[in-house]
Amino acid sequence: MKVAILPGITEIARVAADRIQSVCASTSYPVLGLATGSSPLPLYDELIARHRAGALSLANARSFNLDEYVGLPADHPERYITFIRQHLTDQVDIPDDQVQGPDGLASDLDAAANAYDAAIEQAGGIDLQILGIGADGHIGFNEPGGSLASRTHVGFLTERTRSDNARFFNGDIEAVPTRCITQGLGTIMEARSLVLIATGASKAAAVHQMVEVGVSALWPASIMQFHNDALVLVDEDAASELVLADYYRELWAREPATD
Ligand code: F6R
Repeated sequence: MKVAILPGITEIARVAADRIQSVCASTSYPVLGLATGSSPLPLYDELIARHRAGALSLANARSFNLDEYVGLPADHPERYITFIRQHLTDQVDIPDDQVQGPDGLASDLDAAANAYDAAIEQAGGIDLQILGIGADGHIGFNEPGGSLASRTHVGFLTERTRSDNARFFNGDIEAVPTRCITQGLGTIMEARSLVLIATGASKAAAVHQMVEVGVSALWPASIMQFHNDALVLVDEDAASELVLADYYRELWAREPATD
């Protein structure tokens, strides 16, 4: 795993956008995995800006969201498919039928989860997966205690995650769904490269556990230690518990563009 400790979210967004741009330049039909939540928003703004400047086209790309709440009505503004359209895909040139997310309204959720993995496979697999991390160490909605090899599946959100996400539901934790459908850790690990964005002191413990402590179901993101092309982009606050921070800084200063 490579760790870049950067001065702030603007620089993080630039580095992550460079990665996406390079995948788009080197692949005829790039397949992107997209996270929602607040962490990747500056990245999506940067991609939109590059698109408007004529520097980036996503016309041939396909995108697969990481996850979705179960049961939010089709017109609910916090559905993740709505979120990604609003914050990214409707503002660039990717056709809407090339934008996908797990179906949180399916009558048979298990079948929808299996179909989602099959759709990713049929697209040729994900070239680059953007990730955020929960304060409890989740990626996607893979909460602590689950299988490190899971496929896309129906899961249950922890109280901590529902409370963290209540800010998107007018502060009302009861309005946050209890169930989700998420790419599994096994699905995420099959992406050819991973770029995780974490900012703020509330992520510091999870970042430390993910990068420097043992691989464990207690901190699901720690599975990324087994990926051979995973880049973790953090600001100073999110890096504040990293034991080897100076070493990561030294490595990043030497060869920022390679793994
Ligand atoms: C969202 C997702 C989650 C978030 C995580 C961090 O699609 O998969 O894992 O990335 O909950 O959320 P923020 O960025 O809002 O702190």
